[in-house]
Amino acid sequence: MKLGVCYYPEHWPEHTWQPDAKRMKDTGIHWVRIGEFAWSKLEPRDGQLEFDWLDRAIDTLGQAGLKVVLGTHTATPPKWLIDKYDDVLQVGADGHVRKFGSRRHYCFNSASYLSETKRIVRLLAERYGKHEAVAAWQTDNEYGCHDTVRCYCPNCVQAFQTWLEARYGTVEALNDAWWNVFWSMEYTSFDEVELPNQTVTEANPAHALDYYRFASDSVIAYNKLQTNLIKQHSAYPVTHNVMLFFDAFDHFKLADDLDIVTWDNYPLGMLEWSPLPDDVKAHFLRAGHPDLVSFHHDLYYGLKRKPFWVMEQQPGQVNWAPSNPIPAPNVVRLWSHQAFAHGADVVSYFRWRAAVGAQELMHAGLNLFDGTPDRATHEAKQVHEEIKHQPGGVASDAEVALLYDYENLWATNLQPHAQGWHYSMLVMHWYSALRELGLNVAIRRTHDDLSRYNVVFAPALHLVDDKLAVHLTHYVQAGGQLVIGPRSGFKTLTNQAQAPAPGPLKALMGVTITHVDALRPGITESVTCNGETLTYSTWADLLTPAADTRVVGTYNTAAYAQVAAVTQKQTGAGTTTTIGMWTDAENLKPIIMPILKTAGVRLQAVPFGVRVTRRGEDVFVLNFNPHVTQLSEDLGGGELDAYDVRLPHTK
Ligand code: GAL
Repeated sequence: MKLGVCYYPEHWPEHTWQPDAKRMKDTGIHWVRIGEFAWSKLEPRDGQLEFDWLDRAIDTLGQAGLKVVLGTHTATPPKWLIDKYDDVLQVGADGHVRKFGSRRHYCFNSASYLSETKRIVRLLAERYGKHEAVAAWQTDNEYGCHDTVRCYCPNCVQAFQTWLEARYGTVEALNDAWWNVFWSMEYTSFDEVELPNQTVTEANPAHALDYYRFASDSVIAYNKLQTNLIKQHSAYPVTHNVMLFFDAFDHFKLADDLDIVTWDNYPLGMLEWSPLPDDVKAHFLRAGHPDLVSFHHDLYYGLKRKPFWVMEQQPGQVNWAPSNPIPAPNVVRLWSHQAFAHGADVVSYFRWRAAVGAQELMHAGLNLFDGTPDRATHEAKQVHEEIKHQPGGVASDAEVALLYDYENLWATNLQPHAQGWHYSMLVMHWYSALRELGLNVAIRRTHDDLSRYNVVFAPALHLVDDKLAVHLTHYVQAGGQLVIGPRSGFKTLTNQAQAPAPGPLKALMGVTITHVDALRPGITESVTCNGETLTYSTWADLLTPAADTRVVGTYNTAAYAQVAAVTQKQTGAGTTTTIGMWTDAENLKPIIMPILKTAGVRLQAVPFGVRVTRRGEDVFVLNFNPHVTQLSEDLGGGELDAYDVRLPHTK
């Protein structure tokens, strides 16, 4: 396991590079990521290439014993490039061009930009592809940051039409798939189809869903263009740094073209941004919410089912959340070990030294503006001492899996129907319930082989076809326990209603669903389940059980009292449990605990604010509470200080 840091030699006088590199080494840093925004320094004018400074920077870092991750510069096309062409800038959903003056201002479908991308990436790959100080590549930077996956420019209109023609073949098939007969939305040819923005009221959600798929595919294709080029000239692994709470492209598909998945972890920014209640935010003000972070670690481990990196780890205050608290002492260390516990092989801090100007002037680094080590430097040194003998490469494993699917996310969020609906928050509640029971959780795709998991959770399996139903039926028949949540089986892959829901899942779930309830935020209703009263909010599927389906819970809600809310259906050697309503972790646990126990999964008593994570044979116990916390005997007993971690090798 190793530490890294993000460094911007172009921001600092050259005489500081060598002392910086030496201090990085002394801090225990091994990897340095550079270059990802440096296009205007590399090519200040069209064709005027200035590689010398980058050669010297890489050499300086290499001579200090550091390994370089070189970022391609494409997240920040310079001004001359923007002015040279008229098709590079993005257009927002409001129809306005998004101007030069920050970053990520290019369109993924601009022919000029694709050709400029090929040129610059090839130049970099040819020059540094075998350089001995360079040992990995990063394509671009954070695809989609600042809401830049979905562009509404003329390039995208045309590319979308081509994409639709390839998908549907005839315009009649498109009209059928989208149900365009409604409101006379029918087309007579593909070149009439526009993008689903600036319509009078909402655009057809089937149109929007396909546009989301298309925009996601555009990102994947753009990244593939870069990875293919790099691989022609270099054997070093290629990564891309993905983000927290970001869902505008299918990360599983992106990861298919990467050697290593990396992500950018800003726990306090993420907490401030999240829709969690104010009291929860206050409690975790200085360490972040453990599950928001752990979920992303597990998701990004799950993209390739192998160790990932944190490419950017928050080292102190950030500048971009609505409010930006300082992390408590020891918390950067806590976050670092949290990442290693979930399967990271590298944790790399953002950034080496705080910026003295521009947009991120209020963002902390490992060092203050003048180079004086800030608190995180000392914590990083300690982490280095604690991990330096750990080999890394160890797999993270789990007995339970949680299915996550970007298309289900897009389809349900496009038609939320209840104000508080958000796919990722529902998934987060289910994830938290499992983590509060002391479990490792594998995040998997719906079509993955699930046979190794005792229990599989599918919070909102919205878009379903026969193939998926057969796949899940095989899992259950063979003895699997499947737990399916609200809004499942509602739609076909083209976003039309199953008649009736849950369509091809009907036999497996043993229910039909003809009505749903969608509640305003703040309204809470209840169910009686296994003799207990549990509350729900936001969403309720009204379940009609088949004759051989067992009713486990019923609604108490006056409008549909006694209707089934939770059911169980046996298929072969396994069981499918359907949970019709949106519950938080607290109200979900009593429903799922008996299922987990039946499946032979050992549960642990985990105190509030504490998390336990297993990697291989190693067990990590982490305390995110702002106070000393007594650990249960399950976790080894004794006390754990505020924001402290019990490391496996110090047991
Ligand atoms: C990331 C980004 C970095 C920097 C950082 C600040 O999203 O990749 O370039 O902006 O945030 O927290």
